[in-house]
Amino acid sequence: MAELRVQPSHGLKGSLTLPGDKSLSHRSVMFSALAEGDTVITGFLTGEDTQHTARAMQSLGIAIEGIGTDRLVVHGKGLDGLQEPSSVLDLGNSGTGMRLLAGVLAGQDFFSILTGDQYLRKRPMARIVDPLRLMGAAIDGRSAGKLAPLAIRGGGKKTNAINFTSPVASAQVKSAILLAGLFADGETTVSEPSKSRDHTERMLRFFGVSIREEGTRVTLRGRRALRSKGSIDIPADLSSAAFFLVAASIVPGSDLLIRNVGVNPTRTGVLDVLTSMGADIVLENLREQAGEPAADIRVRYRKLRAVEIGGTMIPRAIDEIPVLSVAAACAEGTTVIKDAAELRVKESDRIATMARELQKMGVPVKELPDGMEITGGDTLTAARCESHGDHRIAMSMAVAGLAARGETVVCDTDWIDTSFPGFERLLRQSAY
Ligand code: S3P
Repeated sequence: MAELRVQPSHGLKGSLTLPGDKSLSHRSVMFSALAEGDTVITGFLTGEDTQHTARAMQSLGIAIEGIGTDRLVVHGKGLDGLQEPSSVLDLGNSGTGMRLLAGVLAGQDFFSILTGDQYLRKRPMARIVDPLRLMGAAIDGRSAGKLAPLAIRGGGKKTNAINFTSPVASAQVKSAILLAGLFADGETTVSEPSKSRDHTERMLRFFGVSIREEGTRVTLRGRRALRSKGSIDIPADLSSAAFFLVAASIVPGSDLLIRNVGVNPTRTGVLDVLTSMGADIVLENLREQAGEPAADIRVRYRKLRAVEIGGTMIPRAIDEIPVLSVAAACAEGTTVIKDAAELRVKESDRIATMARELQKMGVPVKELPDGMEITGGDTLTAARCESHGDHRIAMSMAVAGLAARGETVVCDTDWIDTSFPGFERLLRQSAY
C-alpha cells in the first residue's frame, strides 16, 4: 500500500497544469459513443474512474483508440449502435460511471450487469434504479436493486419518457434519467431540489440534442440523433485544482497559477466559499471550450476566517467539502457546514472520515448528522492519517500536512489515482 509523506511547506509557487475534468471525461466518452461520427477527445482524464468508463464503452462495441492516454478517438455508432456486452461491466470506484451508464443501458434492448469495487458496491443505487424502472427497464441487484451489482434489461424501443422529481440534488440521478430519456419517445423531465452540475445538459446540447431548462427543471426530447462536432477539449478539473487552491490559501508565502481550469458556475462553490473566507483568488483569461467555461486561476496566501456553508452552496461544492474543511481548520473562528448529509454516501462517509482525520491533527471538530463544526487555529499537528479508501480524503490530508508542524504521513494513497494521477509529483513540484 502506498503512503505519502508530507513536510511543512514554505509556500506553493509557480504554475501548474492539472489533469482533465472527471465529470466531463466520463460524459465525453459516453456521448461520443452514442453520436454519429468520430470524436477526438483531448484533455481526457487518465484516472482509473474514467478509464473504467472508456473500457465499458469498448465492451459495448465501441471502437476507442488511445485508452490510457489523455487523447481518445471515439468512433461513435449513433443512438442505436451499442451491443450487448459479453461480460460484466466493472466501473471500479466510480459512482458517476455506474449511475450514468445505468441510464444509457436502461434504454437498450439487451441485458447487462454493472459492478464496482467494495466501496462502490456499498453506495445507494435505489435513487437511479427507481426512476429507471418507471421508464421501463427491468433492473435487479443486491437488496432488491438498492446495491450493485445491478442487472439491467433495458426497455429498448419501449422506454417511457417520464416527469420525475428527484428528492436529492444529484447530477448523477438527473443524468441517468436524461440519458435513458434519449431512447424514449417524447419529453423526459427531471426536477431537483436545487441545481446540481449541468455538464450533461451542456454536452448533450453540444452534440445537438434539444434541452429546455426552467430553474431546477430540465426537459429533453428523446429519439433525436447526437452528432459529433469532431472534437472536445476538456479543461482541468476544478475539483482537483481545489487541493492546490486551499494549499496556497493556508501556506504563507504562496503564489500559484493554475492553468486552464473548468469554471462551470454549477461547480464553482469552492471559489465562492474560499473568497468569502477571505482568500485571494483571481480568475484570468476566461474563455469557453466545448460549451464549458474555463479560466486560469491565480491564488495567493491570505489569512482565512470561518464561514457558514449550507443550502444551495452544497451541491455547488459537494466534492470540495473535504478540502474546504482543511481550509476551515486553518481559519480564524468556527466554520459550520450543514445540509450536507449527501457527503455520507460518497466514496467514504466524508463527514465521519474528515472529522476523524482532522481530530488526529488536533483540530476541534464536532460531527453533525448533516455536516460539521470545525474550529480553526494557527497550527495543525502532524499525524498519521488514513485515506479510508477515498481519494479526496487522502489528498485533503496531504494538503493539511503542508500547514502542519512535523511530518504528516497519509496511508493507503493508491486511491488518489482514481481521479488525480500525478498528484504527489505536482504537490512536490509546487510546494517544496
Ligand atoms: C458527479 C456528480 C456528483 C459528484 C461526483 C461527480 C457527476 O455526485 O459528487 O463526484 O459527474 O455527475 P452526485 O450526483 O451524487 O451528487
